[in-house]
Parts: sequence; C-alpha cells; structure tokens
Amino acid sequence: MNEQHVHLTGIGSYLPERVLSNAELETMVDTSDSWIQERTGIRERHIVAADQMTSDMAVEAARIALNDAGIGIDDIDALIVSTTTPDMVFPATATVVQAKLGGKDFPAWDIQAVCSGFVYGLAMADGMMRAGMFRRVLLIGAEAMSRIVNWQDRSTCVLFGDGAGAVVLEAKEKEGGVLGSVLHADGAYRDLLKAHHPHPGASPDRVVDFSLDAAGVAAVEMKGNEVFRVAVTKLGQVVGEILEHCQVDKGAVDWLVPHQANIRIIQATAKKLGMSMERVSTTVREHGNTSSASIPLALDELYRTGKLAAGQLILLEAFAGGFAWGANLLRWSK
Ligand code: ACO
Repeated sequence: MNEQHVHLTGIGSYLPERVLSNAELETMVDTSDSWIQERTGIRERHIVAADQMTSDMAVEAARIALNDAGIGIDDIDALIVSTTTPDMVFPATATVVQAKLGGKDFPAWDIQAVCSGFVYGLAMADGMMRAGMFRRVLLIGAEAMSRIVNWQDRSTCVLFGDGAGAVVLEAKEKEGGVLGSVLHADGAYRDLLKAHHPHPGASPDRVVDFSLDAAGVAAVEMKGNEVFRVAVTKLGQVVGEILEHCQVDKGAVDWLVPHQANIRIIQATAKKLGMSMERVSTTVREHGNTSSASIPLALDELYRTGKLAAGQLILLEAFAGGFAWGANLLRWSK
C-alpha cells in the first residue's frame, strides 16, 4: 500500500433551536451580561430540547457532513463519536448514531477526552487510516453540556452550550489533509475540572446515596482561574510543538481553529502565534463552550462562510479537563 494521507472531504454541524442569552441568565443566577462578556466573550448559547439526545444532534451534523462529502452511510468504514455527555453509560453513543443513520456492520465507538475529544479523535482516526485499517471514517463531536451543568452555580452555568459537528475523513494517496497531531494529558490536575459520575453506585466516593439528584451529582465543578492559567501556558506550548513536529513556520499558518472555552484564552494563543484575530475562527460568542463539538462547529463556520481555500494551513488546538490537551495541523484540500 502506498503512503496514505487523511483528507477532510465533508463537514457539517448542528445547533439546537433554543437560544439562551446572557440576559435570560441574569434572571436565573446572580450574574450580568457585562461580567460574562468581559470574562468569557460569550453572549449566548444553544440548549438542547427536552426530547433531544446527544445522538440526535450528532445525527443532524453527520447527515450534513455525509451529504457534503457526496457519500452515504454505507460508504463509511468506522464511526467515532467524541462526547462527554453520552446518551447512556452504554452502549456507546456512536452505535446509537450508527443505527439512527441506518448504518450496518462497521465499527462504532465513543471517545472521551472532554473538550479535547475532537483533537484526540482526529489523531486517532488519522493513525488508524494511515495504517490502512479504514478508508472512510465519520468523526463527530456532540455534546449536551446543559445536561451536566448545575444551573444554580453562576461560576460554571454561564459557560457551556450544546451542539454537534461532524467530519468525513478519507484516506488518499494525494498529499495534504492531516499533517500531524500532538497529544498530552496530565491527570495530576484532574480535580480542577470535573463532573462526578451520574450513577452513584458506580462511583466509589458516592456509594449508594439515592437521595442525590442525578443532575446535581453529575454537575461540572471547576476552579476556573487555575484552569485558565494552566490552559494558557499549555496551549502556548502545544502550538509550538505541533509546528515543530510538522516542520512548519508559525507565519505559514492561515487559520487558527481553537477550542471555544473563553475568548481571552483564544486571544492569548493567537498572540503566541503572532496571528491577528481575523485569522481565528471564533464562535464562543454565539455558542459558548460546547466541549468537543466546538472545534468542528468553528471549522464548519469558516467553511460555510467561504473563508477556506485549498492549500491553506489550519491549526486546531484544545484544552480540557484531565487535563488533556493537544493540537492538529491540516492542509485544507476540499
Ligand atoms: N457572574 C458574576 N460574577 C461571577 C460569575 C458570574 N457568572 N462567576 C464568578 N463570578 C465572580 C466570582 O464569584 C468571583 O467573585 P469574588 O472576587 O467576589 O470572589 C469573581 O467573579 C472572579 O471569579 P474568577 O473565577 O476568579 O473569575 P475569572 O476571571 O477567572 O473568570 C472563568 C472565570 C471565565 C471561568 C475563567 O476562569 C475561565 O475561563 N477559566 C477557564 C475555563 C476553561 O478553559 N475550561 C477548560 C475547558 S472546559 C472542559 O474541559 C469541560
């Protein structure tokens, strides 16, 4: 087999209809539109409907991506869903998505690297496809973060939103596509950003307390300012590492597509790269932090607005609970 390169041949995204504005949040917790915008850059976020699951958002994004690639679900060899908010503990949400799309007899599994899930998933798919395991992979980031947020905690509930983004990846001999990936994790930081398991009996420090409300048990807990400091440092390092790994000068990068947690973190990374904010995809204002859906959503925004041109270099980066962080470099080839 000749050397394979993994190209992104289809992309799609989905946001639930319901929009929750900062003004509405002001009526729910002790916060203000100006605090949220100044500290985070967020103005509004989308919230999944009561009868929607993570898999439903994933299916919507996947349909658009498949259509964009000009293929059907039967042409797919493997399906990976990155999610922090699976429909159930098991089976994997990827198998639910496979069934809802009418797909049969190809491997489907979930990965969990919180907000870095798409970067991890892209690295994983790239490695497996280069090794010849699969020719076409559907990679989806889908999150219903509103389901694991404590809506009484102003320090976290203003930050998150729901949505999904999907890409079709195809292995080809043609050069370009995914040029490389760098991944990191350091579990020493695991207590700074976490959400307990929703099922008390399965979590040793929550043994059999059935009085606990499931939503409360699963709620996100974060030491925001400590996460912020480490995120800025580690992201600054990882963008340097990916450029060195791919032997690319920072001045050659056309677009930065970062995980959308906080506009100030995004600005710090852009500054490190010497990039003006016009070359950075920012959707945090309208989407909030959609965890592992945020990068494909931000990439799709660039694509749909006609900003991407073949041959351009795109740097993806993310930082997440764990901590887990990483970056990928792509040469756009659509
Ligand atoms: N409205 C008004 N005041 C608030 C709010 C709010 N929504 N939330 C907190 N405050 C108050 C705090 O109580 C505190 O008040 P005090 O000084 O009287 O004690 C004050 O604002 C400052 O709080 P900080 O937490 O120090 O604020 P900070 O400037 O650090 O901003 C933020 C908080 C936005 C959360 C920031 O720390 C951040 O973005 N952190 C990183 C988040 C991130 O990147 N996470 C990783 C990805 S997420 C994932 O993996 C699931």
